[in-house]
Amino acid sequence: MSLLATIYIISSVTFILGLKMLSNPASARRGNQIAAIGMTIAILGTIFLYEDNGQKLHNYVWIFAGIIIGGIVGTLAAKKVKMTAMPEMVSLFNGMGGACAALISIVEFNHMQNAAEILKGDQSNGYFIPNFSFGFIYIICLGLVIGSISFAGSIIAWGKLNGKIKDFSFKGQHIVNIILLIIILGLAAYLPIHFLESINNISFHFYIILFLAILYGIFFVLPIGGADMPVVISLLNSFTGVAAACGGFLYDNKAMLTGGILVGAAGTLLTILMCKAMNRSLKNVLIGSFGASATSSGVKKEQGAYKEISLSDAAVVMSYAHKVMIVPGYGLAVAQAQHACHELEKLLTEKGVEVKYAIHPVAGRMPGHMNVLLAEADVSYDNLLEMEQANEQFPTTDVVLVLGANDVVNPAAKTDPSSPIYGMPILDVELAKACIVNKRSMKPGYAGIENDLFFQPKTSMLFGDAKKVLQDLIGEIKNL
Ligand code: TAP
Repeated sequence: MSLLATIYIISSVTFILGLKMLSNPASARRGNQIAAIGMTIAILGTIFLYEDNGQKLHNYVWIFAGIIIGGIVGTLAAKKVKMTAMPEMVSLFNGMGGACAALISIVEFNHMQNAAEILKGDQSNGYFIPNFSFGFIYIICLGLVIGSISFAGSIIAWGKLNGKIKDFSFKGQHIVNIILLIIILGLAAYLPIHFLESINNISFHFYIILFLAILYGIFFVLPIGGADMPVVISLLNSFTGVAAACGGFLYDNKAMLTGGILVGAAGTLLTILMCKAMNRSLKNVLIGSFGASATSSGVKKEQGAYKEISLSDAAVVMSYAHKVMIVPGYGLAVAQAQHACHELEKLLTEKGVEVKYAIHPVAGRMPGHMNVLLAEADVSYDNLLEMEQANEQFPTTDVVLVLGANDVVNPAAKTDPSSPIYGMPILDVELAKACIVNKRSMKPGYAGIENDLFFQPKTSMLFGDAKKVLQDLIGEIKNL
């Protein structure tokens, strides 16, 4: 086995190990580093050891200029990005991955076409083109279509998340999308058959597919509610993985193939898990425009009165409790209150209170959002309870402190069949003896609906920005 093949196998193993380690917060950072090392050796191995017909790569200036510029931009972007803007960055980077896959297809198509043109006059050759096979051209087309859809869709998703692009749809858009997709697939299926006979105008055919695939990517994501973008990004991420795997086939590159397949499979599984945790089908996410429609149908029902609790009372209730469960949500991330939250936890623990965190799988706006946020503040993983574990413990909990969470604690998911979140598994905070909810107002959360929890007798509202409220609460507890 050649040295390069060995390197590819080692890097493929690091990708698999890295992915496995990402499934646990304690090993996730190390897993990421291991996979990054594997990717680095795969890239360096390709640059210095890859040979095509006995020829090595020679355009090192271009290659290293790209690596240095891309490396600097990527590092700065990753260092500067706020945790709440992470889905935007993931979307943009994913779009770049899709664009790369499409560019690989364009480059390989041009190679194939040039080879065919050179050999055109030489009838004795029988139009023999090295590497040519229908399968090869099909993979070029597949990479082009999937990569372009992923690129265009990710850029629209990025624009929606940062508010630059608004939701847009027209009557019958889903039908138009389906027709567009059928045309793209039809053209892509026909191109290889027709490649050798129409070598002169095949480029036109090829670039029409590129144009339509970009158009489809835009039309596919435009009507989806902005708040559903994390699910869409995860789906597009899996598309990019498949498109990269097509590149692995074209270059017979095992590392690219394994990496692409892993991204494709992980993205698909994540999409399914997110849909399950929100109790929605993928079809409903893609066609239902939940985020958009739920907000507009956020009809205000008569809810009765809610009661407020003062900071000093909240401090007393929590200090004298045996067990406090903190429920973090999107608002905690917005307020960047994770450090203050950890400080409160340490203070209460010193007073002999048992403090745990209840983590809902879709709390926040991206998978693992709360885990990442709390890890940033050095909260011990042992204190984080998954939804099922937390639900078992709520009946024996004295005080639940809900910090900027809303939908994930909304009992309508269990009691109101007309609610858009009906059926979504939630944290049963109402089973605890008392519940203190911190948010800034009575405004709804992501699903755009009222929350009955806020009006229940055991619940008290503690209004204000989560960071400020937590800092003041810490001050009050210290003064007790
Ligand atoms: P949300 O339901 O969005 O509620 C967050 C609450 O935080 C809001 O009601 C808001 O109320 C409050 N808030 C905002 N800024 C705050 C601040 N500075 N201080 C204190 N409170 C603040 O959040 P959730 O309970 O975490 O639920 C997540 C939702 O996102 C679910 O519906 C889920 O399906 C959806 N979603 C999640 C994901 C993933 S993967 N996590 C992906 C797509 C969609 P005020 O404005 O009154 O303060």
